Amino acid sequence: MNILLTPARIGSVEIRNRIVMPPMTTRTADEEGKVTDETVAYYMARGLGGGGMVPCEMASPSREGRHRRRELGIYDDRFLPGLSSLTDEIRRGGARASLQLGHGGGHTRRDICGETPIAPSAIPHPVFEVTNETIIPDAMTHERIDATIAAFAAAAVRAETAGFDCVEIHAAHGYLISQFLTPFENRRTDEYGGSLENRARFGLAVLRAVKAAVVIPVIFRISVDDYFPRGLPYAEGRRVAIWAAQAGADALHIAAGHYRSLPSAARMIPPMAYPDATFLDYAAEVKKEAEVPVIAVGRLGDPDTAAAAVESGKADFVALGRTLIADPDWVEKLRRGEPARRCLACNTCVNEMRGGAQLRCVVNGAAGQELRFAAPKRPKGERIAVVGAGPAGLTYASLVADGNEVTVIERADRPGGAFRYAGKAPLFQEVVADQRSFDLYIRNLYAACLHRNVAFMFSADVMRSPHLLASYDRIVIATGAKYRFGLGDLPGMVLDLGAGRWPGFKQVLSMSAFREWLYYKARKGTGEAFRRLAGPDQKVVVIGDAVAAGKSRTAIAGAFEAALLVG
Ligand SMILES: Cc1cc2nc3c(=O)[nH]c(=O)nc-3n(C[C@H](O)[C@H](O)[C@H](O)COP(=O)(O)O)c2cc1C
Ligand code: SF4
Repeated sequence: MNILLTPARIGSVEIRNRIVMPPMTTRTADEEGKVTDETVAYYMARGLGGGGMVPCEMASPSREGRHRRRELGIYDDRFLPGLSSLTDEIRRGGARASLQLGHGGGHTRRDICGETPIAPSAIPHPVFEVTNETIIPDAMTHERIDATIAAFAAAAVRAETAGFDCVEIHAAHGYLISQFLTPFENRRTDEYGGSLENRARFGLAVLRAVKAAVVIPVIFRISVDDYFPRGLPYAEGRRVAIWAAQAGADALHIAAGHYRSLPSAARMIPPMAYPDATFLDYAAEVKKEAEVPVIAVGRLGDPDTAAAAVESGKADFVALGRTLIADPDWVEKLRRGEPARRCLACNTCVNEMRGGAQLRCVVNGAAGQELRFAAPKRPKGERIAVVGAGPAGLTYASLVADGNEVTVIERADRPGGAFRYAGKAPLFQEVVADQRSFDLYIRNLYAACLHRNVAFMFSADVMRSPHLLASYDRIVIATGAKYRFGLGDLPGMVLDLGAGRWPGFKQVLSMSAFREWLYYKARKGTGEAFRRLAGPDQKVVVIGDAVAAGKSRTAIAGAFEAALLVG
């Protein structure tokens, strides 16, 4: 039995396996913060997917701590009915439900939280929520500190009433408790500032108050390293984690990073150029001293890496964030021995969410839209030819493989399409590109197709041999886009030579105007030419870049729609 699938406890709560989801803001709540049907459908999918615990996203214990529009609300009893329906649905799938209590502190704005934000000290805070703006919060008085601690306790009671099995205190990433911990943001000279004991006082007081208020287990999530000068250094972060365990935390969730991290805030959600298991050694170090379970997080989506994290004793639980956005059924697939859809670590989900959008994913066209895909209409009992083994073609094939006889026909000698080059460009979306991420994604998707008995014909050109398509009921054209202006295969060849890393070239290829031109104007869809190959009785579907040249997310989303919504 895979160790990831063995049960374990957090406090009094038994969790069916070692995989939990970390809290991730979705913006699916309504403007007020009430749970919507979309919120329920999103979390229900993660609960049904087999994970042990589904923690819901950061919710502020008081109104002035709200850090995003459409943030989940817990600061008033009026949120209880929605939250109760959420826990019912998560638990119906067999998972435990948890809620993260997080106060934005100085990392919010008046237009979001309704008043001047509060923080340990009145220093400028850069706030990125839809727009970038720097604010100066009010320094918290002792009365404000006491009231905020009480608000955390009251919110925990509400969470318990709503049926959550655990609550998690958010002391990571630069929000209020983390602001108290961080010397740069905490300039206080009273008992809440100065020494580490003083800077930790507020967070530990919150923890003790929450523990005293509820019976359910309390998890303490902390960034043990802020990664910037005068941020919380690792030696101190580790100390505070141990103190939290001694103060009654039932589990520690070891994260790292802060909005002020260098080289950028992206470090807290490590993009593709960062190594797998980015923060695991921090968790392992804490676990040596802590007498409570430790949850590790950060690029643990490779099943072998995740299993090794638990097997080696470095962590008791692994939290899979973007991995479960990309494939909510990751755990069920692990149980069945099926390859999962692998997250690219491209951070489009979080970057677009911070920019104001609801949660979406490049490789999972249904993420954040679970309601729309709730009753899929797949083709049934057909012989389907998918022309093109790029990300859109493979995605389509993997989604319709059950109940159909599917063959993917590809001109090249291997799968991958545009993703064979994507990692050779300097950037993918907003992050530094890394070819390994694309190769692993394609390898898994190809393996998932094979697992579902999809057949493959490589080095087969249907333009030259149209008879290859003759026996199919449905022809799905996923042939991508081709370069115009006589460029042909030149851009791919140049990237293959490593030009994406050459000075000068790299700068040009990173310019957003140039990239937009390259995606949209320099290429055109190839679908129409292939459409002519179909006979009059054959259904033809054109998907991805073959319809119109664009970005991968749109191409893969098109494959989801064509496979699951059209029938
Ligand atoms: C879209 C998105 C939203 C997030 N929102 C939160 C949040 O509300 N609270 C939090 O503590 N971390 C948040 N995170 C960070 C994750 O909990 C997690 O620490 C991070 O994604 C690294 O784990 P992973 O590599 O498994 O994705 C968010 C991450 C993403 C991708
Ligand atoms: S958008 Fe990118 S980083 Fe986010 S879950 Fe999807 S593949 Fe992973």
